[in-house]
Amino acid sequence: MRSTLVSQFGDPRQVIALVDAERIPPGPGEVEIALCLSAINPSDLIPVTGAYSARTTLPFVPGFEGVGIVARVGTGVTTLKPGDRVIPIGTSGLWQEYLVRPAEWCFAVPDDIDDHQAATSYVNPLTAIRLIEALKSHFGSLTSRRIGVTAAGSAIGAMLVKLIAGEGAGPVGIVRSERSAARLASDAAGEIVVADESRVPSGLAFDAIVDAIGGPFAGELIGQTLQPGAAFIQYGALSGVPVPIPAIQARPDVRFSFLWLRTWVHTAGRPAMEEAFAQSFAGLRTGLFSSRVAHIYPLSRLDEALAHQADPQRDGKLLLDTRC
Ligand SMILES: NC(=O)c1ccc[n+]([C@@H]2O[C@H](COP(=O)([O-])OP(=O)(O)OC[C@H]3O[C@@H](n4cnc5c(N)ncnc54)[C@H](OP(=O)(O)O)[C@@H]3O)[C@@H](O)[C@H]2O)c1
Repeated sequence: MRSTLVSQFGDPRQVIALVDAERIPPGPGEVEIALCLSAINPSDLIPVTGAYSARTTLPFVPGFEGVGIVARVGTGVTTLKPGDRVIPIGTSGLWQEYLVRPAEWCFAVPDDIDDHQAATSYVNPLTAIRLIEALKSHFGSLTSRRIGVTAAGSAIGAMLVKLIAGEGAGPVGIVRSERSAARLASDAAGEIVVADESRVPSGLAFDAIVDAIGGPFAGELIGQTLQPGAAFIQYGALSGVPVPIPAIQARPDVRFSFLWLRTWVHTAGRPAMEEAFAQSFAGLRTGLFSSRVAHIYPLSRLDEALAHQADPQRDGKLLLDTRC
């Protein structure tokens, strides 16, 4: 089967190889999934660079999110049958034609959710739901809170802006260009601030910030915009640099936390995850969790897909068609 493999850490465009691999029969309790569409997310590429080398074992097949059809079931599987459409989670390995996963880690996709929607129904919607829960556990109610969302031009950024508005709070989407601002404005209602990484505009004041950038820009936001008693939740580091420790130490009044979907997924239990997927599918039906798809590449043209992923002009998610 067609597969991909990372055998050494480095630039994703140089170290992710297209390879032939053997199909593995499903063992007891497992299913083999013929994957259809897989997403390319920043979180797929970060482990490839070696950023998490202490907890990443080489070699590995990248890809945390996608949808496919059950092809074969192992002994003892009663919940799934060949032909069922599922989202397999809890591991990387979705950038290939077939994947074997325990049936327990596969979630059925309702018929009215198409493959494009299903392929982006997991990582960002479930993380956005967790981030809103984290904000609510800090404040109780979010009503009238002013909440900054950095990298609001990202797929999850738009979801967060919409979710925060839905809680009766005031979202402020922080984007790095007028182009991103126009795109976000067409996707979600709410205030939008354009600020590149070199400068925080004056006059901003937030009760909370959800941050996917990190680095000096996050440090400036913490120092200049957070109200006393605010919350700062980091869930990404698109700048490639951590939030400066002195910026955190200078604000003992602020509650800092880091949210990682993976931690929740491996502790929440199946009923909580089923509930989260139900919320995601409901949000896909209304457009709340829709991700703009810029292009679908055959997996065999992974090099072009990775070049496009690195292009700052990219205008939405890229998907891989793992069947060709
Ligand atoms: N912690 C978790 O469990 C978790 C889960 C899901 C996602 N995440 C994180 O969330 C972030 C966004 O993910 P995504 O899938 O939504 O990404 P995405 O749709 O691929 O969007 C990334 C966009 O963010 C904007 N951006 C990139 N670098 C930026 C920077 N330095 N400053 C400001 N904006 C920047 C760009 O939009 P413009 O070109 O329009 O500016 C870029 O297109 C990533 O860091 C990802 O790792 C974390």
